[in-house]
Amino acid sequence: MSSLPVFDPFGVEAIDDPYPQYRRWREADPLHWSEKLRSWVVFRYDDVAAFFRDDRRLSSDRSKAARFKRRGTTDAIPSLRTVASDPPDHTPVRAILNACLGPRVRGIGAQVDNVIERLLDRLGEATRRAVEQVDLRGEVDLIADFAYPLPITVIADLLDVPEGDRPQFQASSHAVARGMDRFFSAPDASRGLHEIGAYFLQLVQQRHGSAGDDLVHRLLGTDYDGQRLNDLEVVAMCTALVFGGHETTVNLIGNGMLALLREPQQLQDLKSTPTLIDSAVEELLRYDSPAQLISRCAVDDFEWHDKRIVAGDSVLGCLGAANHDPAVFERPDDLNLSRAPNPHLAFGLGTHFCPGAQLSRIEARAAVATLVRRFPKIRLGRTPPVRRPTAVLRGLERLSVRLD
Ligand code: HEM
Repeated sequence: MSSLPVFDPFGVEAIDDPYPQYRRWREADPLHWSEKLRSWVVFRYDDVAAFFRDDRRLSSDRSKAARFKRRGTTDAIPSLRTVASDPPDHTPVRAILNACLGPRVRGIGAQVDNVIERLLDRLGEATRRAVEQVDLRGEVDLIADFAYPLPITVIADLLDVPEGDRPQFQASSHAVARGMDRFFSAPDASRGLHEIGAYFLQLVQQRHGSAGDDLVHRLLGTDYDGQRLNDLEVVAMCTALVFGGHETTVNLIGNGMLALLREPQQLQDLKSTPTLIDSAVEELLRYDSPAQLISRCAVDDFEWHDKRIVAGDSVLGCLGAANHDPAVFERPDDLNLSRAPNPHLAFGLGTHFCPGAQLSRIEARAAVATLVRRFPKIRLGRTPPVRRPTAVLRGLERLSVRLD
């Protein structure tokens, strides 16, 4: 263990390819105290699964952790009920979200296809312009021109954000998404959160006076066991949807396309057997997971792997490492679009399992399938891909491709 270098998910090598580093820690120090992150980190599949299931000792509620440290003080500010909580507080909030999101997502396929076709029309035009301009080498950026606008347009559709508000909505959500890494926050992240909160508050207040089927109306009008969310809780929920659903889906499409473009034979298999798309997207979720680290706070003292976790400690589950654990996945570092079974943890597990999993699967399946069908010659451009220097989320800043 002493021969291990410092665990550093922000190092240049780790940003490029974190999996060799994960392998070393999974084998040698599966419950690791990282001085750099001031957190415990677990790497093995079984440990990450246990981490997700242990609501009792590992809390999702940061305010609880803070209160714990200030034992003896009283909480003067009444807290909002949000998904960042533990059962039983979490139960009504999550039940209301599931009841509202589920039916909207079930019927959303055609709407998503529409958004994708429009974005791909624009990508086709951008390609024609890029071919004419020598300095662009005929290349377009799949992130800025396709992966980035797709999920935020779908979320705006779900919330029925009026057309005129969309540029501002997208700008604020951009700032929110870019600030998601708590270890690498963009300076405008809190401004973005503030702006989007103010925007949602005004939207919620307007929706009170009207009828509709969008997610905001549904969140306001749905109850669980006689309880409803108040306006500020609906604002927090809408913000959580942008926070949880934008950058992650961008990363799934971006990381996934990069993986496919680096494996031309697998890409060819997908083109010749389009029905592979469902298992292909599961494999892309596993192979280069959009969210790499999920955090909890210990609310009890306990022993784990012969180490002592103390109440108040931060604990991180490393999804990327769990999803490459050879104890569960055969040849884990190979991309295998037909992999079955594929019990990856990319959407988490248990109480907080991602409520947007089905939506992002619908988006990613349609995005990848339509992209390779409409542009069968798609290949990597000469400009190398650029990774974002983030560790909680793993994604690309730029992915240059040629489509002609
Ligand atoms: C590829 C895309 C996505 C990935 C990889 C992903 C990943 C995750 C993970 C790992 C969790 C569990 C967090 C935890 O245990 O603390 C989670 C929770 C969550 N996700 Fe997603 N997500 C994705 C897309 C979405 C979308 C599209 C939405 C909304 C439209 C969304 C909204 C949320 C929310 C609100 C939570 C919190 C749920 C709770 O605490 O009960 N996510 N997501």
